[in-house]
Amino acid sequence: MNLLDVSGLTTAFMTGRGEVNAIEDVSFSLKEGEILGIVGESGSGKSVTALTIMDLLPKPPARVAAGEVTFNGERLTGLSDRQMQQVRGPGISMIFQEPMTSLNPVFSIGDQIMETIAAHERLSQADLRRRAITMLDKVGIPSASRRLDDYPHQMSGGQRQRVMIAMALACNPKLLIADEPTTALDVTIQAQILDLLMDLRDEFGMGVIIITHNMGVIAETADRVLVMYAGRVIEEAPVATIFDRPMHPYTRGLLECVPSLTEDKPRLVAIPGTLPEPARRPPGCRFGPRCAHALPSCAAAIPPLETLEPAHAAACFRAKELAPA
Ligand SMILES: Nc1ncnc2c1ncn2[C@@H]1O[C@H](COP(=O)(O)OP(=O)(O)O)[C@@H](O)[C@H]1O
Ligand SMILES: [Mg+2]
Repeated sequence: MNLLDVSGLTTAFMTGRGEVNAIEDVSFSLKEGEILGIVGESGSGKSVTALTIMDLLPKPPARVAAGEVTFNGERLTGLSDRQMQQVRGPGISMIFQEPMTSLNPVFSIGDQIMETIAAHERLSQADLRRRAITMLDKVGIPSASRRLDDYPHQMSGGQRQRVMIAMALACNPKLLIADEPTTALDVTIQAQILDLLMDLRDEFGMGVIIITHNMGVIAETADRVLVMYAGRVIEEAPVATIFDRPMHPYTRGLLECVPSLTEDKPRLVAIPGTLPEPARRPPGCRFGPRCAHALPSCAAAIPPLETLEPAHAAACFRAKELAPA
């Protein structure tokens, strides 16, 4: 059984221009202990996918227009808020994009970690404290018992990110979703946080979804990769395959602008043009207007995600024709 199955997931937002699909027909699955990378430019639908799985989007304006999420054999789509609260924490836990906005500045980090644990487990104050110290220790915060009473502003960006990870792991989740967990951090800390996530996967056997716009992060961590563009999955493959023989012109473009994890070089912009907003998507292939290989026929229909070799799928009418022999 898969840990997570996402099938045909479509999330719409009501906007001034009417209802638009932020994500559309998103399908993938994840096994226990597997690290899935979701990659794509800013605005491609990565966070909306994660927040739909967690059922954390405000409804309205958001609405799950189609599809479903199954976690550990249980259908999550349609569960009540109360039932979903039981899943979040011990089932699925998430590290959010911006650590400073997710930690409450007026409570000590110890109180915040303990509150997270107390929401799901009946433990004495002393046990909660011990558990919080263990978690801080696990995520590599030195002198954890002393740092427990610190406030978020007394910690560095890297330490706050570690605290966020400690909170996310405090209830031993089966699935951890990390949404751009390293974007705000310098390269050395980034590498440390990614190593930490992989160690924790090894130790707890949890499934991990790492969301990033950085192919370098994917190369370092993921077993399998999902590439998103304008709300849709446009390629999926094991990590080595994505780097060896990417089939979608967009994925090839992303690979040409891989920023280095170890050198702090500015990002190269290799794909001309910009991602279309949901209300202004072109007809047919959404990447068409930016694609060097687009034909007039590419605008006629949305290319379906097609399996081209075992475990490798891409959504491009010309994928086979353009594939290197
Ligand atoms: N609350 C919202 N209302 C309307 N549109 C939204 C909302 N949140 C996200 N979107 C739209 O959904 C699309 C995907 O956004 P998002 O998932 O945040 O992208 P990513 O995480 O890949 O950068 C974007 O076009 C964004 O404008
Ligand atoms: Mg995002």
